[in-house]
Amino acid sequence: MGKLDGKVAVITGAASGMGRATAIRFAKEGAAIVLTDLNARGGETAVAECAAAGARAVFQRTDVTSEADIKAAVDRATREFGRLDIMYNNAGVAGATGAIEKVSAQDFDKTIAVLLRAVFLGMKYSIPELRKAGGGSIISTASVAGLRGVGYLAAYSAAKAAVVNLTEAVAIEVGHDRIRVNCICPGGVNTPLVNRGIPGGEEAAEKNMARMQPIPRAGHPEDIANMALFLASDESEWVTGAAMVVDGGMNTGNVRIRLGGLPNDGTFSGPSFERPER
Ligand SMILES: NC(=O)c1ccc[n+]([C@@H]2O[C@H](COP(=O)([O-])OP(=O)(O)OC[C@H]3O[C@@H](n4cnc5c(N)ncnc54)[C@H](O)[C@@H]3O)[C@@H](O)[C@H]2O)c1
Repeated sequence: MGKLDGKVAVITGAASGMGRATAIRFAKEGAAIVLTDLNARGGETAVAECAAAGARAVFQRTDVTSEADIKAAVDRATREFGRLDIMYNNAGVAGATGAIEKVSAQDFDKTIAVLLRAVFLGMKYSIPELRKAGGGSIISTASVAGLRGVGYLAAYSAAKAAVVNLTEAVAIEVGHDRIRVNCICPGGVNTPLVNRGIPGGEEAAEKNMARMQPIPRAGHPEDIANMALFLASDESEWVTGAAMVVDGGMNTGNVRIRLGGLPNDGTFSGPSFERPER
């Protein structure tokens, strides 16, 4: 028996990374899935992977910045599979990067549209259907950048922080309908969003990202899919309004990076003007 037998899910950003891994995980647990993305080719490939796992799955091309597209994705779930139990607002971009005074107002707005407004729309259009199903689960991908700001990624950090708060607010509104609203705050996960621009791509990122948190390996999309499965399944029946951190310990304060230049051999690190006794 699968943990999601009989349940129907919509996943945004399902052509790649965490969304794709989650679609495949949900498929193996018995869910029927509407995979949505801007990227039709990647989306159809992911649909084939879900079908190979024995699931009913369809692709719906969706731009999450379009209100009509998000509504259409929810409608597709009810038309195709008869109901909706799980809405996973996950699509994302790094968006406006760089020093704040160089960020254009237009790029700031675009970042907010993909990372925040789309989550609002996903909630708005899924809630009536989840209510009809007698309850359900809304999951959104926030970030550890939504818990502590990341420099040169200000629009992104602000949008993700807002997703954490939106999650709490909406959880309060719909709890009595047995609709849970949670978000996931991933740390550094090796996906195309972070590895496509770096020399050496995925392999190089795997090495670099192993040093970014206490647990010495990069995050993988499957780490996030495991948390999404918990939040989608009945096992999380009493969990709502939560920001679930899945980050190998990064949000503890990035211990390994902070140790750079400090002794880590148990000796006392005195005033910085004194030279360390080594
Ligand atoms: N990778 C990380 O380290 C990391 C860390 C924290 C949070 N996140 C968040 O995780 C989520 C998933 O990202 P990922 O790392 O799997 O990246 P990814 O690039 O592999 O996947 C994101 C998907 O979203 C799609 N997308 C982008 N804009 C869209 C739009 N307007 N409409 C529809 N689809 C769109 C892309 O085509 C892509 O398939 C994002 O919300 C991202 O901000 C990523």
